[in-house]
Amino acid sequence: MKIPYRLSFALLGSLIFTTCNAATLDDVLDSYQAAGATTFSAARGETLWTTDHPDPESPGKVRNCSTCHGKDLSQPGRHVNTGKEIEAMAPSVNDKRYTNAKTIEKWFTRNCKWVLGRECMPQEKGDVLSYLRTK
Ligand code: HEC
Repeated sequence: MKIPYRLSFALLGSLIFTTCNAATLDDVLDSYQAAGATTFSAARGETLWTTDHPDPESPGKVRNCSTCHGKDLSQPGRHVNTGKEIEAMAPSVNDKRYTNAKTIEKWFTRNCKWVLGRECMPQEKGDVLSYLRTK
């Protein structure tokens, strides 16, 4: 009886883990709606992701989300300043993506400031995540 009993815990554990991962992203989206966002649009998220913004440090150059994450989200990116590899953003190839609400917020804050020169609104963050989750 010992093994099936343990096995059932393992199965239950992985079930809970999988469900929590899915729940994290949905919870994050719910929290944006609680903060005033309306329906999310992957198309608007893609526009935000790909729109160029003037680089305040290098006149004539631009910044966008692909500057570090790359054009193909199923491939690793590269940090433009440190040269460090950044794992692929597409959840279809990287199941660690968008699994921790704090991590999501930390990087949104940092990267929106760097690219847009300001923090992203809850609506914008929800749009971007709706776009990224399709990848
Ligand atoms: C200067 C480089 C750089 C730019 C430009 C950049 N990012 Fe990132 N981003 C990172 C790094 C580094 C990480 C953390 C490492 C990782 O997640 O692999 C990250 C992680 C993230 C995460 C967290 C992913 C997760 O798994 O939780 C989100 C969301 C994100 N970025 C969104 C954006 C958006 C939106 C833009 C454009 C406004 C953007 N990033 C532009 C470097 C960048």
